[in-house]
Parts: sequence; C-alpha cells; structure tokens
Amino acid sequence: MPDLKEIHGIPDYGSIIELINAEWPAEFGDKTDMEKIADMNESHNTEKDCVKYLYENNVVIGFYRYSLWPRDARETDAAHTYDIAVLPSRQQQGFGMMLMTDMIESCRSQGLSRLLSRTFKNNTASIALHKKCGFHEHMTTEDSIVWEISLNG
Ligand SMILES: CC(C)(COP(=O)(O)OP(=O)(O)OC[C@H]1O[C@@H](n2cnc3c(N)ncnc32)[C@H](O)[C@@H]1OP(=O)(O)O)[C@@H](O)C(=O)NCCC(=O)NCCS
Repeated sequence: MPDLKEIHGIPDYGSIIELINAEWPAEFGDKTDMEKIADMNESHNTEKDCVKYLYENNVVIGFYRYSLWPRDARETDAAHTYDIAVLPSRQQQGFGMMLMTDMIESCRSQGLSRLLSRTFKNNTASIALHKKCGFHEHMTTEDSIVWEISLNG
C-alpha cells in the first residue's frame, strides 16, 4: 500500500524531476530540467511550505506541496497548493485523490480554515480532481480557475 511521508527541509527536487516534468505547464515556458529544479528550489520556503512524497515500494510515485498563504502574512488561516503530481504511468488510479485528501487533512489539522488552489483552464485532470475533492470555484481569470475549500466543520 502506498505511503505518504513528510519531507523536512528543502526537498531534493532533482530526485523527483519526473514528477516536476509531469506537472510543468506549457504556460511556464520551455525550461531544462536544471532550470526547473532551480525554480523549485527558489520557490521553496522551509518555514511556510509542507511537502509530502507518496512512496510505493521505495519509489516516489507522487508528491504535493502547500504553503501558508499569503506567504508574506505574519498570521493566516489559509494555505495554497503549490504542487500536486502523480507519475504519468500511475495516474487515474486514485493517487491524486489520496494526495489531495491528505493535503486537506494536513491543513485542517494545523487549524487552517481555507485551502486555495489554482488550475489552468486546459487542465482537465486537475479540474476533475478539485471538483471530486469538494473545492468550489472562488474566482476565474483569463486562463485559470482559483479554487477554494472550507476546512471548517
Ligand atoms: C491532476 C493529477 C494529480 C490527478 O491525479 P490522478 O492520480 O490521475 O487522479 P485520480 O486517479 O485520483 O482521479 C481523481 C478524479 O479525477 C478524474 N480524472 C483524473 N484524470 C483525469 C483526466 N485526464 N480526465 C478526466 N478526468 C480525470 C478521475 O476520473 C477521478 O474522478 P472519478 O473518481 O469521478 O472518476 C494528475 O493528473 C497529474 O499528476 N497531472 C499532472 C500534474 C498536474 O497537472 N497537477 C495539477 C496542477 S494544478
């Protein structure tokens, strides 16, 4: 049975490049693996981010990251998803649901009351996942849907 484990400190993003490639949207431009890893390291905030890897037989088949939101707030009751991805060969087998359900529970257990998320409008799988997990549309922009789920009650 796959197992979720929290990663403390800055993750070794190079070791999960297949997952980063799986989630890298065309909208972020064509980058080399090294550039993507550098972007991930740069965007990581060890004080505000929570990362978990999904292991199956010691292989990472999925991961997520969320961050306290807004990041520059001293205190907040909200978080925002940053990453959620499953290896292409393991998609549509329930692992995305497993990751998102755990992320929601992790935020709730910290006493947060809202989780926000953003999906490009062309990402059918992500839209299906957010709807299935109970998010509602908070707002839309030209290219994206911003989702919200209440963690109270
Ligand atoms: C989005 C993602 C994490 C979903 O993971 P997954 O393991 O395939 O999701 P699940 O198997 O748990 O499926 C969850 C629901 O979404 C649906 N779904 C998943 N992929 C789908 C697709 N390509 N098209 C339509 N529905 C899809 C499933 O059918 C399921 O709904 P159901 O139970 O009613 O059938 C995965 O597609 C992925 O890693 N994509 C690349 C990274 C990415 O885009 N991340 C999101 C950034 S916002």
